[in-house]
Amino acid sequence: MSNIGDSGACSGAKANRECEALDVLSNERRADGIWLLRLAAPGMAGKVEPGQFAHFRLPRFGGHILRRPFSIYDANAEEGTIELLYQLAGKGTEHMTSLVPGERFDCIGPVGTGWAPPAQARNALLVCGGVGIAAVNMLALALRRSGAAVTCAFGAGNAGKLAGIERLESAGVKMLIATDDGSAGHRGFVTDLMRDALAGDPSIDYIAICGPRPMEAIACRIALESERVASGEVRCEVSMENRMACGIGACLSCVVDTVDGLRRSCADGPVFDARKVVWR
Ligand SMILES: Cc1cc2nc3c(=O)[nH]c(=O)nc-3n(C[C@H](O)[C@H](O)[C@H](O)COP(=O)(O)OP(=O)(O)OC[C@H]3O[C@@H](n4cnc5c(N)ncnc54)[C@H](O)[C@@H]3O)c2cc1C
Ligand code: FES
Repeated sequence: MSNIGDSGACSGAKANRECEALDVLSNERRADGIWLLRLAAPGMAGKVEPGQFAHFRLPRFGGHILRRPFSIYDANAEEGTIELLYQLAGKGTEHMTSLVPGERFDCIGPVGTGWAPPAQARNALLVCGGVGIAAVNMLALALRRSGAAVTCAFGAGNAGKLAGIERLESAGVKMLIATDDGSAGHRGFVTDLMRDALAGDPSIDYIAICGPRPMEAIACRIALESERVASGEVRCEVSMENRMACGIGACLSCVVDTVDGLRRSCADGPVFDARKVVWR
């Protein structure tokens, strides 16, 4: 991994955190307001665990000192590349759409505690909303490689906002689609599909959830209605993508309320045991 303090690009990274300069390889619109950014990351690509994220300082983004956190959507250790699937949310992500091949990203990562499916998981249900699919993509692919059946319930506002389906389908993931306006799949919430999937398949032995906060709260509540989940027999995890400042556990701006007290989303998470999260 190239530490790039000489260029100054990694200034602000804590000494014990790895910082790498990543070259933009491509940056393409994939759906309505959703872009795929591919980066050369030879030091990082082989180290990423599903559910981890990285913290990026955007180039040519003067005046904005805070890094932006993004899940590692995919990583290819052989090619030394990583990908981000990002949604336009504000100035930073809008600026990201202007990045062109050859530009350099200053990045700390991979960081955070990712998904921890049980080794014996054979039938996983992943539930995601919008760009939450970025946090579960590597998990789904890893579970498929281990031979597990994987169903992904995926919801978005409309058909134009669905990104990332093909990659999962080509790995053998069964996709269940919901859109708010019914332009693709079930008309309604992804949590409706989740409830039906859980009711219809008692062999589901692992659940992972990532999406907008209200969706996550409902999905966790549905999962915990099952005695097998509430007792811990079936593990259910949720990625809590709180707003972050330092991204490395130092500032406490990202805390999550849990039954064990406040926990840092960036360092103790972003993935938490759904039984531990206290929803407000
Ligand atoms: C661990 C983690 C992983 C993430 N992974 C992804 C990802 O894979 N793809 C992706 O598109 N986004 C992801 N996000 C959210 C992403 O970091 C924010 O959307 C981005 O930083 C917004 O930057 P901005 O300058 O465009 O928007 P800002 O101007 O900073 O904010 C614009 C709007 O975005 C909202 N926003 C900012 N941060 C978050 C957040 N953490 N969660 C929800 N809303 C937020 C603000 O409330 C505001 O309404 C992740 C966040 C975390 C904490
Ligand atoms: S963002 Fe600073 S502790 Fe998490």
